[in-house]
Amino acid sequence: MKEISPEAKEKIEDLLKRYPVRRSALLEVLHIVQQEWGYIDEEGEEAVASLLGLEPVQLHEVVSFYSMYERRPAGRHIIRVCRNLSCTLMGAEPIITYLKKKLKVEEGETTEDGKFTLETAECLGACELAPVMQIDGEFYGNLTPEKIDEILERIK
Ligand code: FES
Repeated sequence: MKEISPEAKEKIEDLLKRYPVRRSALLEVLHIVQQEWGYIDEEGEEAVASLLGLEPVQLHEVVSFYSMYERRPAGRHIIRVCRNLSCTLMGAEPIITYLKKKLKVEEGETTEDGKFTLETAECLGACELAPVMQIDGEFYGNLTPEKIDEILERIK
Protein backbone atom coordinates (compact mmCIF):
# COMPACT_ATOMS: atom_id res chain seq x y z
CA MET A 1 0.00 0.00 0.00
CA LYS A 2 1.21 3.47 -0.93
CA GLU A 3 2.25 5.68 1.96
CA ILE A 4 1.94 9.41 2.49
CA SER A 5 5.51 10.72 2.78
CA PRO A 6 6.85 11.90 6.14
CA GLU A 7 7.13 15.45 4.70
CA ALA A 8 3.48 15.49 3.67
CA LYS A 9 2.48 13.97 7.03
CA GLU A 10 4.35 16.76 8.78
CA LYS A 11 2.51 19.37 6.70
CA ILE A 12 -0.77 17.67 7.54
CA GLU A 13 0.02 17.55 11.27
CA ASP A 14 0.85 21.29 11.19
CA LEU A 15 -2.44 21.94 9.43
CA LEU A 16 -4.42 19.83 11.89
CA LYS A 17 -3.18 21.98 14.79
CA ARG A 18 -5.31 24.80 13.38
CA TYR A 19 -8.51 22.78 13.48
CA PRO A 20 -10.31 21.83 16.69
CA VAL A 21 -11.88 18.89 14.84
CA ARG A 22 -9.56 16.87 12.58
CA ARG A 23 -12.19 16.11 9.95
CA SER A 24 -12.68 19.85 9.32
CA ALA A 25 -9.28 19.90 7.60
CA LEU A 26 -10.32 17.20 5.15
CA LEU A 27 -10.33 19.26 1.92
CA GLU A 28 -6.94 20.79 2.65
CA VAL A 29 -5.47 17.42 3.62
CA LEU A 30 -6.69 16.01 0.31
CA HIS A 31 -4.94 18.87 -1.50
CA ILE A 32 -1.67 18.03 0.23
CA VAL A 33 -1.94 14.37 -0.73
CA GLN A 34 -2.94 15.25 -4.28
CA GLN A 35 0.04 17.58 -4.56
CA GLU A 36 2.28 14.71 -3.58
CA TRP A 37 0.72 11.86 -5.57
CA GLY A 38 -0.93 13.81 -8.37
CA TYR A 39 -4.31 12.20 -7.65
CA ILE A 40 -6.47 10.62 -4.95
CA ASP A 41 -7.35 7.04 -5.72
CA GLU A 42 -8.81 4.39 -3.40
CA GLU A 43 -5.48 4.02 -1.60
CA GLY A 44 -5.34 7.78 -1.09
CA GLU A 45 -8.86 7.74 0.33
CA GLU A 46 -7.91 4.98 2.76
CA ALA A 47 -4.69 6.71 3.81
CA VAL A 48 -6.44 10.02 4.50
CA ALA A 49 -9.35 8.27 6.21
CA SER A 50 -7.04 6.53 8.65
CA LEU A 51 -5.14 9.77 9.27
CA LEU A 52 -8.31 11.67 10.13
CA GLY A 53 -10.21 8.86 11.85
CA LEU A 54 -12.86 8.67 9.13
CA GLU A 55 -14.33 5.80 7.14
CA PRO A 56 -12.98 5.34 3.59
CA VAL A 57 -16.53 5.61 2.26
CA GLN A 58 -16.77 9.13 3.70
CA LEU A 59 -13.60 10.04 1.83
CA HIS A 60 -14.93 8.49 -1.35
CA GLU A 61 -18.07 10.63 -1.16
CA VAL A 62 -16.01 13.81 -0.83
CA VAL A 63 -13.39 12.97 -3.45
CA SER A 64 -15.95 11.93 -6.03
CA PHE A 65 -18.10 15.03 -5.36
CA TYR A 66 -15.42 17.65 -6.02
CA SER A 67 -14.04 17.91 -9.54
CA MET A 68 -10.79 19.43 -8.21
CA TYR A 69 -9.62 16.01 -7.06
CA GLU A 70 -8.13 13.75 -9.69
CA ARG A 71 -9.06 10.08 -9.43
CA ARG A 72 -6.16 8.79 -11.50
CA PRO A 73 -2.78 10.01 -12.71
CA ALA A 74 -3.25 13.19 -14.70
CA GLY A 75 -1.16 15.38 -17.00
CA ARG A 76 1.09 18.16 -15.75
CA HIS A 77 -1.65 20.68 -16.57
CA ILE A 78 -5.36 20.14 -16.08
CA ILE A 79 -7.69 21.86 -18.52
CA ARG A 80 -11.28 22.16 -17.29
CA VAL A 81 -13.83 23.48 -19.74
CA CYS A 82 -17.16 24.63 -18.35
CA ARG A 83 -20.17 23.13 -20.04
CA ASN A 84 -22.88 24.68 -17.91
CA LEU A 85 -25.68 26.85 -19.28
CA SER A 86 -23.99 30.21 -19.98
CA CYS A 87 -20.91 28.58 -21.46
CA THR A 88 -22.96 26.19 -23.54
CA LEU A 89 -25.02 29.08 -24.90
CA MET A 90 -21.78 30.88 -25.76
CA GLY A 91 -20.25 27.93 -27.58
CA ALA A 92 -18.65 25.58 -25.04
CA GLU A 93 -19.36 22.46 -27.13
CA PRO A 94 -17.41 23.59 -30.22
CA ILE A 95 -14.60 24.64 -27.86
CA ILE A 96 -14.53 21.17 -26.29
CA THR A 97 -14.58 19.58 -29.72
CA TYR A 98 -11.71 21.81 -30.80
CA LEU A 99 -9.64 20.94 -27.73
CA LYS A 100 -10.28 17.22 -28.19
CA LYS A 101 -9.13 17.40 -31.77
CA LYS A 102 -6.14 19.62 -31.05
CA LEU A 103 -4.92 17.53 -28.12
CA LYS A 104 -5.98 14.20 -29.67
CA VAL A 105 -7.77 13.10 -26.51
CA GLU A 106 -11.28 12.46 -25.29
CA GLU A 107 -12.67 13.94 -22.09
CA GLY A 108 -10.87 12.63 -19.04
CA GLU A 109 -7.82 11.64 -21.06
CA THR A 110 -4.24 12.86 -20.98
CA THR A 111 -2.15 13.77 -24.01
CA GLU A 112 0.48 11.30 -25.12
CA ASP A 113 3.29 13.53 -23.84
CA GLY A 114 1.64 13.76 -20.42
CA LYS A 115 1.32 17.52 -20.67
CA PHE A 116 -2.44 18.08 -20.59
CA THR A 117 -5.48 16.35 -19.17
CA LEU A 118 -8.79 17.50 -20.63
CA GLU A 119 -11.84 17.60 -18.41
CA THR A 120 -15.21 19.29 -18.43
CA ALA A 121 -16.80 20.90 -15.42
CA GLU A 122 -19.99 22.42 -14.16
CA CYS A 123 -20.19 26.21 -13.71
CA LEU A 124 -16.75 27.56 -12.81
CA GLY A 125 -18.25 30.75 -11.45
CA ALA A 126 -17.03 33.00 -14.25
CA CYS A 127 -20.10 33.02 -16.49
CA GLU A 128 -19.44 36.61 -17.62
CA LEU A 129 -16.39 35.26 -19.47
CA ALA A 130 -18.26 32.43 -21.21
CA PRO A 131 -17.11 30.23 -22.76
CA VAL A 132 -14.58 29.58 -20.03
CA MET A 133 -11.86 27.12 -19.19
CA GLN A 134 -9.47 26.82 -16.30
CA ILE A 135 -5.93 25.57 -16.60
CA ASP A 136 -4.33 24.69 -13.28
CA GLY A 137 -6.89 26.90 -11.61
CA GLU A 138 -6.32 29.98 -13.78
CA PHE A 139 -9.29 31.32 -15.77
CA TYR A 140 -9.33 31.90 -19.52
CA GLY A 141 -12.51 33.33 -21.02
CA ASN A 142 -14.19 34.42 -24.24
CA LEU A 143 -12.52 31.42 -25.81
CA THR A 144 -12.04 30.97 -29.51
CA PRO A 145 -9.90 28.36 -31.27
CA GLU A 146 -7.27 31.04 -31.97
CA LYS A 147 -7.18 32.09 -28.34
CA ILE A 148 -6.82 28.47 -27.24
CA ASP A 149 -3.88 28.00 -29.58
CA GLU A 150 -2.13 31.03 -28.06
CA ILE A 151 -2.85 29.97 -24.47
CA LEU A 152 -1.67 26.39 -24.91
CA GLU A 153 1.43 27.57 -26.74
CA ARG A 154 2.44 29.68 -23.73
CA ILE A 155 2.11 26.82 -21.25
CA LYS A 156 5.33 24.86 -20.82
FE1 FES B 1 -19.62 28.47 -17.40
FE2 FES B 1 -20.71 29.63 -15.28
S1 FES B 1 -21.72 28.59 -16.88
S2 FES B 1 -18.63 29.59 -15.85
